[in-house]
Amino acid sequence: MGESHGKPHAIMISVPYQGHINPFVNLALKIASKGFSITFVHLEFVHHKLSKVHDHTTTADQVDFFFVARESGLDIRYTTISDGYPLEFDRDLHQLEYFNTLFHDFPARVDEFVGNIIQSDPFSVHFLVTDTIYHWPATIAHKYNLVNVSFWTELALVFSLGYHWDLLREKGHVPCKDNKEVEINYLPGIESISTRDVMSYLREEEIVLSEVLFVAFQEVKKADFVLHNTVQELESETLSALNKYLPNYAIGPINFSKILDTNTISKSLWPESDCTEWLDSKAPGSVLYVSFGSLVQTSKQVIQEIAYGLLLSEVNFIWVVREGIVSPGDTNVLPAGYQDKVRDKGLVISWCNQIKVLSNPAVGGFLTHNGWNSTVESMWCGVPMICCPITYDQLTNRKLVVDTWKIGISLCDGTSTVERNEVAEKIKSFMKGTALEGLKKEAEKVKETLHDALQIDGSSERNFHQFIKDLKGKIH
Ligand code: UDX
Repeated sequence: MGESHGKPHAIMISVPYQGHINPFVNLALKIASKGFSITFVHLEFVHHKLSKVHDHTTTADQVDFFFVARESGLDIRYTTISDGYPLEFDRDLHQLEYFNTLFHDFPARVDEFVGNIIQSDPFSVHFLVTDTIYHWPATIAHKYNLVNVSFWTELALVFSLGYHWDLLREKGHVPCKDNKEVEINYLPGIESISTRDVMSYLREEEIVLSEVLFVAFQEVKKADFVLHNTVQELESETLSALNKYLPNYAIGPINFSKILDTNTISKSLWPESDCTEWLDSKAPGSVLYVSFGSLVQTSKQVIQEIAYGLLLSEVNFIWVVREGIVSPGDTNVLPAGYQDKVRDKGLVISWCNQIKVLSNPAVGGFLTHNGWNSTVESMWCGVPMICCPITYDQLTNRKLVVDTWKIGISLCDGTSTVERNEVAEKIKSFMKGTALEGLKKEAEKVKETLHDALQIDGSSERNFHQFIKDLKGKIH
């Protein structure tokens, strides 16, 4: 590890999933752009995947993104850390075992990693920036006397529900026994939310992530600062209520911060298909973009019914059918001969540059699982959504999209089944019906709010500036 050149120096350790990598990399660039040194750490297997995508096979230094960052004068060193498994270990197939390892064994590796850097120069590291979903940062920061910055990549509403998890338990409202619906109306800064709309890991505590996340939400209470990938104007009450506990800063949407031309430099873990030519051949607003993100799985029934629903709706579509969408290694999830059946109406791909697709004028709607990145990317592009949340925070995100901001409609829920005629009807009326104008109008307003937030005098820029000032105050 090199010298810190007298600049304040942070170690940033990312979570190995696309929906967390994207905002985290953008945050690294943004902090570095304020004159800080960053040591950015990916897990080795993530680096390997990125290298394969970019056809780089030798050293970590060759990953495009950070190479471009350094060329632009940002002080970012890039390195990797092992999760203890060989590269070829199938982390999707053995998800349960893998989460357990990340929870129980990985913290010792991080400790050793940070300890080694500090041992070579006790004053070389000043702060730690980690994803809130890790549960160990407070311990490491305390041990090495580092300022602890936690980055929450999702909605502040979701953070607040997690933050008050123990209170929700105390009231007996989570886990949601017998699926009984109850209104939660006692959390500061949250007017009211039904237990139906809270995150899956609160609703059903037996799911793997619950143990990890419960501890993470307890531990974040010890952070010095929390950054949120949201916009103050969209969640002002929730954020001000959180500020009573510890300093929170809404700095989103981070994926659109213009440090470098980040949208054109890929951070993708999979090779991207270029859809531009196909999209350019379609009429404005005529294409429905369909994707369920990078992580979650759904059933073959849902995929097949959506496939026939799209066909019956007769709208143009691009559909990202990611490898592993149903189960790891299952590549045969669509009806036989599907691409021939849809002809030029539909394009089925395994991955793309989503922001590029959503920005194309031909795209008029997004059928999404409502991962927060996908949701915010759609909002940034002013594209209304058909919501099909599957798990985690996606149900909560859908609530704001449909009920609060009124920029989307609901199609299905969690792991429920869907039926092709209903899918077709919903898609048809969404893309061509009378309600579309209203959705588009609201989507334009939300788009403006997001774009304004990132203007030089916008709320996210001001909040980021304030965070940097407060951070410097804490370091010196
Ligand atoms: C995960 C969780 O599932 C989600 O609920 C949480 O909000 C974030 O972490 P993921 O399911 O991958 O994320 O969804 P999402 O947050 O939407 O992130 C997916 C990312 O992959 C987006 O930034 C999107 O632009 C990108 N993507 C997706 C592509 O670049 N190409 C694609 O073809 C599909």
